[in-house]
Amino acid sequence: MKQLSLFPDESDRLDTDNLDISTWGTFKDNLKTPIHSWFTYPAGFSYKAVESSIKRYQIQPLEVIYDPFMGSGTTNVVAKKLGVSSYGCDAHPFVFKIAQAKLNWNVEIKAVTKAIKELFLLINEKREKIQDAGILKETFPELVLKCYEEDSLINLLLIRDSLFDLDINSEIKEFLLVSLTNVLRQVSTAATGWPYIAPKKVKITSQNKDVLSEFQINSFKMVKDIEIMLREVNPNYLLSEHHLLNIDSKNTENFIQKNSIDHIFTSPPYLNNYDYADRTRLEMYFWGHAKNWADLTQQVRKKLMTSATTQTSREDSRYILSPEIQDYAPDIYSFLESAIEKLGKIRLTKGGKKNYDLVVAGYFNDIFEVLKDCYRVLKPGKKAIFVLGDSAPYGVHIPTDEFIGELGVAIGFSSYKIEILRQRGGKWQKNPQRHTEKLRESIVTLLKE
Ligand SMILES: C[S@@+](CC[C@H](N)C(=O)[O-])C[C@H]1O[C@@H](n2cnc3c(N)ncnc32)[C@H](O)[C@@H]1O
Repeated sequence: MKQLSLFPDESDRLDTDNLDISTWGTFKDNLKTPIHSWFTYPAGFSYKAVESSIKRYQIQPLEVIYDPFMGSGTTNVVAKKLGVSSYGCDAHPFVFKIAQAKLNWNVEIKAVTKAIKELFLLINEKREKIQDAGILKETFPELVLKCYEEDSLINLLLIRDSLFDLDINSEIKEFLLVSLTNVLRQVSTAATGWPYIAPKKVKITSQNKDVLSEFQINSFKMVKDIEIMLREVNPNYLLSEHHLLNIDSKNTENFIQKNSIDHIFTSPPYLNNYDYADRTRLEMYFWGHAKNWADLTQQVRKKLMTSATTQTSREDSRYILSPEIQDYAPDIYSFLESAIEKLGKIRLTKGGKKNYDLVVAGYFNDIFEVLKDCYRVLKPGKKAIFVLGDSAPYGVHIPTDEFIGELGVAIGFSSYKIEILRQRGGKWQKNPQRHTEKLRESIVTLLKE
């Protein structure tokens, strides 16, 4: 196996002395930052990582940055602030809507105040028609019922249904939908232990919260966030264009032109069994987009690239390693082939018998397609940056970062380099079920010449 390729341009070293890069792969920096904080997406990365890349590679206002896995839109929000145009794809329908709302900065205090006033009138009308709390059981799956006190959930339902009925401009409506989504987690009495809901534990600080005022306060805070953002923006932001696409980034041919992108900055799903559908289960159930596991599979799991065992099935040929990878990168193919074989045996010795063997095959089949598409859209002389971690399913180490670099070179990129952001996995060290492989989070930079 070839070792990390030498990158021709070493003049742009990451300034690790003056920057804390260890949190770049996490959402931590975004939690208290205007607009980025509108939706807590544990799978998201730091806005600082995007800002730094735009600066480091001197991306100019009105040039175009692309994020093929934009998630909650961190890359696109930063781009807009700096007057850089952007494209972003996410195949997850709910997360896509959040990103869309975060890119709309036309929402003003007057319009929100008016909408909330009308909304509260409608809520009062609807409240009178509610006979008893039986409506909650008719409306929501068990999980949602477990996450809230009865009064809180009635109020959440009243806001939700009144929002549906309210005759207002669709941009304000989307904005208020995101506000209510954000409040959902704040007023839940379930100790939500990210990323999954654990409704058995009660979060005392959320008991007896006044949902209507929390919603109102949050909506006004969001308007304030826009005002703060507008004070800091590059004046070109008004001319910049942002195309957000709810599509699979394996093939963007109908949407993004060849050689049209100046910079790619993204964080693909890690090969670590994170189930994006599960992360949004509470929200999708609450909004009525899904009622059960099967709905979530249909609407989310099936649409995303493979990264979790919950997406796989032994009958599906998508989880057989593609012969195309063998043609382009025979060394990587044979490494993966033997890792897959090993995992196929190890899984049978484990209680959960998780399909990690299929995930590894599906993951590389998918990321290979995305890399090809990224190569197609990027302008010559430009760079594509992937922030991601390596992984060790059932203790079998897969150097995902290095393989993305190698596969990139196999399909046409001229070189790649890897910079380590942090070592990870420390919090699991005491768990005897865990493997002992040392994992890392890195930035992989691919250059197209
Ligand atoms: C690591 S997250 C990126 C989060 C993003 N950087 C942020 O700050 O919010 C990866 C994202 O890829 C999306 N995704 C998975 N498969 C996809 C596909 N085939 N096409 C487009 N998006 C996909 C997931 O829904 C998820 O939101």
